[in-house]
Amino acid sequence: MTEAAALIRAAAGDAPVRLGLILGSGLGHLAQTVNGPAIPYADLPGFPHIGVSGHNPHLHVGTLHGIRVAVFGAREHYYENGNPAAMRPALETLKALGAPDLILTNAAGSLRPDIRPGDLMLLCDHINYNGLNPLIGEPTDARFVPMTDAHSPHLRAALQAAAQAEGIPLPQGTYCWYSGPSFETPAEIRMLKTLGGDAVGMSTVPEVILARFLGLNVAAISTITNMAAGLSDEAISHAHTKAMAPLGAAKLERILRHFLTNLR
Ligand code: HPA
Repeated sequence: MTEAAALIRAAAGDAPVRLGLILGSGLGHLAQTVNGPAIPYADLPGFPHIGVSGHNPHLHVGTLHGIRVAVFGAREHYYENGNPAAMRPALETLKALGAPDLILTNAAGSLRPDIRPGDLMLLCDHINYNGLNPLIGEPTDARFVPMTDAHSPHLRAALQAAAQAEGIPLPQGTYCWYSGPSFETPAEIRMLKTLGGDAVGMSTVPEVILARFLGLNVAAISTITNMAAGLSDEAISHAHTKAMAPLGAAKLERILRHFLTNLR
């Protein structure tokens, strides 16, 4: 067990966690409704020190719709310190708390005309365009993680069923990881479209790799905050991302609540 896991158990009880949830930009409301303590990342050894505005660096451990959850209010992005494995200790802690499943959320730009700002996209696959990997330096053979079906077909089906029950469209698509913190150029977006990408963002992919390494089932949903560079007249900015995230966040929250209600 990690030192952080022991501290979390002391603060929030020993019952195993059923589900981990990492919240992206502007998606923090759900965390506030967890029935349990909010533990500052600063108190948890190995957890990241978060510097991005619009994020809430607390781990909320408790129940949500009767399910024991660990909700991560913030993540460290690669662009903060150049460490693709920044979330490894946090995810190892989730594993130590007993969680079999992990849901990731993020804000992303759309490459598809039929997926607009305010819409959601379920990741069916991803392109690690950075070529960075959080497992570089991992000495064991466990580093050779298969990435076929990395985005759990079982969790995706459950999320789609929840979306359908709520009457919310949830198209699936391929997410491209670009390091940031600068946004992409229009030429880069044309390239990503050619490569088969449907959305672009600055997170999630290293966490999917780490989750699979740790044996966690993982699925991810993007809230689309903008059309990617060159695909609309709108100016792209972090302020715009933060302002637009709540549009999709309300729908995402309904899907996640429905999903939790049906989780066993
Ligand atoms: N590009 C990268 N990351 C993003 C975007 C984008 O257009 N929108 C929100 N996060």
